[in-house]
Amino acid sequence: MSGTDTGNTRTAQDVEPRIGVRDVSMSFGELNVLEHIDLDFHENEFVAVVGASGCGKSTLLSIIGGLLEPTQGSVTAAGQPVTGPGRDRGIVFQQPALLPWLSCLNNVEFALRGEEGLSKAERLEIARRHLADVKLSGFEDAYPNELSGGMKQRLALARSLSYRPSVLLMDEPFGALDALTRQEMQILLTQVWEANRMTVMMVTHDIEEAVFTADRVVVLTPRPGRIREDIAIDLPRPRTQEMIATERFQSYVQHIWDLIHEG
Ligand SMILES: Nc1ncnc2c1ncn2[C@@H]1O[C@H](COP(=O)(O)OP(=O)(O)OP(=O)(O)O)[C@@H](O)[C@H]1O
Ligand SMILES: [Mg+2]
Repeated sequence: MSGTDTGNTRTAQDVEPRIGVRDVSMSFGELNVLEHIDLDFHENEFVAVVGASGCGKSTLLSIIGGLLEPTQGSVTAAGQPVTGPGRDRGIVFQQPALLPWLSCLNNVEFALRGEEGLSKAERLEIARRHLADVKLSGFEDAYPNELSGGMKQRLALARSLSYRPSVLLMDEPFGALDALTRQEMQILLTQVWEANRMTVMMVTHDIEEAVFTADRVVVLTPRPGRIREDIAIDLPRPRTQEMIATERFQSYVQHIWDLIHEG
């Protein structure tokens, strides 16, 4: 809000960001992939990151996840420097990394073994609840190879949500799914997020998916990736499929499409 002259109104911007990316650049040898990225993700904010293939989206996500160290700059999570992966930051990849020898229920329960002070019965109870959240009730005893692609990705989501990370990092989570399943997953994801609220960074190729799910869409330039524009998506929640056809929704989509394809 502008125009606050009382001096004691704290806005989201004053509060320590959940994730702070400070002047991050990344090169692989001679190849400059990211340049001078400054980005804040606030508490409970859903941010989508889009940009041309190869502009460094996955690299940025891996740096925030602590899987890669930037060549320059730094990342903080709740004010603390990120030096590696942590349970405060859950990651969901395009290809779900499931444990094929464990049932759905045990895949989620397994992820909870790192949580202190939970008995096995409590872990199973939490796992059951999270399977229900992603509409996998009834599949507790099924094995990952018995699931469809969308179901596998729902299981991966349940597993990442089970230990309640404060940040969820998703890299093209629905990229391998057919269009219909993908749409169902977008709706499910927004429902789960609207019920659980956490900070989300989702990398996607799909501009409609970005506008449908996110509070902000960050558009990167072609490689080397810089921030082209950071767009607030002013659409009400819960998001519904009917919104997609509205002029407002489509004007966001068009604007982002123009930014990605210009030049
Ligand atoms: N470990 C690595 N070693 C060398 N080069 C890499 C490495 N990881 C990524 N790159 C290069 O960095 C650039 C950015 O890769 P990145 O995977 O971050 O792009 P992206 O925006 O996620 O692309 P896409 O949309 O296709 O997934 C690419 O040119 C890629 O070849
Ligand atoms: Mg990628």
